Amino acid sequence: MKIAVLKEGGSETRVAAIPETVKKFTGLGASVAVESGAGQQAGIADDEFASAGAELGDRKAVLKDADIILCVSGPDPAGLSGARKGALLVGALDPVRRTDAIRGYADAGLEALAMEWMPRITRAQSMDILSSQSNLAGYKAVVDAASIYGRAFPMMMTAAGTVSPAKLFVMGVGVAGLQAIATGRRLGAQVSATDVRSATREQIQSLGAKPIFVEGVAGIEGEGQGGYAGETSPEYQKAQAELVSSHIAKQDIVITTALIPGRAAPRLISDAQLATMRPGSVIVDLAAEAGGNVEGCAAGEIVERHGVKIVGAVQLSRTLAADASALFARNLTNFLTAFWDKDQSAPVFPDDDEIVSAIRLSRDGRIVNDRLIQA
Ligand code: NAI
Repeated sequence: MKIAVLKEGGSETRVAAIPETVKKFTGLGASVAVESGAGQQAGIADDEFASAGAELGDRKAVLKDADIILCVSGPDPAGLSGARKGALLVGALDPVRRTDAIRGYADAGLEALAMEWMPRITRAQSMDILSSQSNLAGYKAVVDAASIYGRAFPMMMTAAGTVSPAKLFVMGVGVAGLQAIATGRRLGAQVSATDVRSATREQIQSLGAKPIFVEGVAGIEGEGQGGYAGETSPEYQKAQAELVSSHIAKQDIVITTALIPGRAAPRLISDAQLATMRPGSVIVDLAAEAGGNVEGCAAGEIVERHGVKIVGAVQLSRTLAADASALFARNLTNFLTAFWDKDQSAPVFPDDDEIVSAIRLSRDGRIVNDRLIQA
């Protein structure tokens, strides 16, 4: 069993293995081949991979006879020439936006496994790349906001007078939002938060923040379908807009994270609402790539409107490459070892397994995933 670890391309800074996970695989009897320089941007030198038992080589050498290919962002299929038919390709393959690439993996005979489609079930928690990366993004959104904001976060009582604490509002309390609340609290901000899922109210309170919820109109009861939010009613949206209008004018920092799977991000802050905020306020929109929660937000840019800076955050976990890689690599290892068959010294994926059928995209030259076939 040979496992190949690719050096990523483009703006990707993370790597799909760390020395700890290399050791884990070699301990299971596999050999690991890491492409030279793969860990460079995550602060892992080739020597460290070698000391953990990996072989280093160029792309051609690591792909030769590899049974499993690990990546963070899905590679261009052309860069996988030389991979053997039937090899597994495991990573964040972005199947919704990269349909041509997925077709290319199928044509090359690869069995592509998209880790972002891992079901949100207890058994798969340790394999969930969306959670591990969103958690870091939630933290970094607050740290970035603090560095752009021209004032301090905590209350400070000094001989020269008192510095008031920043008021921070988190909209969307999933994995990223929860970490944004916790980080804002650690930095001394006064934190409030909102979500459409009623189950988040207690989570907000347990982190010491104030829940701001639409009352009298039903949002999404409990956790929502599969833990996710769905579209809300027009009546709810109107009530939510009124609630936001009255709250947002008093806020200094807003972190928005609201997403609805398979749809554009819900618009939560209008230009008119922005205009009520104090100049110098900062908004970090973590939904920027899905169209943004804030009117006027541009992915990958900082836009200023009415004196308010709107940060269109993109892939913030890449700015924490060392930690993001370590968590991502462990997600991959947890997934592969959960299916590892000791006798065959290889992972074995039962067709009827809930995880396998959710994440398997291609096999034997065909696209096999229902979500892709129905699209
Ligand atoms: P997400 O990234 O899909 O969305 C972020 C948040 O935005 C969610 O909390 C959602 O309810 C909220 N939102 C959507 N529309 C909104 C609106 N109009 N206004 C305000 N908020 C809105 O969510 P994420 O972070 O992926 O987590 C989703 C759920 O999955 C959570 O309940 C989480 O606890 C659960 N989960 C379960 C796991 C497991 O069991 N393996 C692993 C990770 C998360």
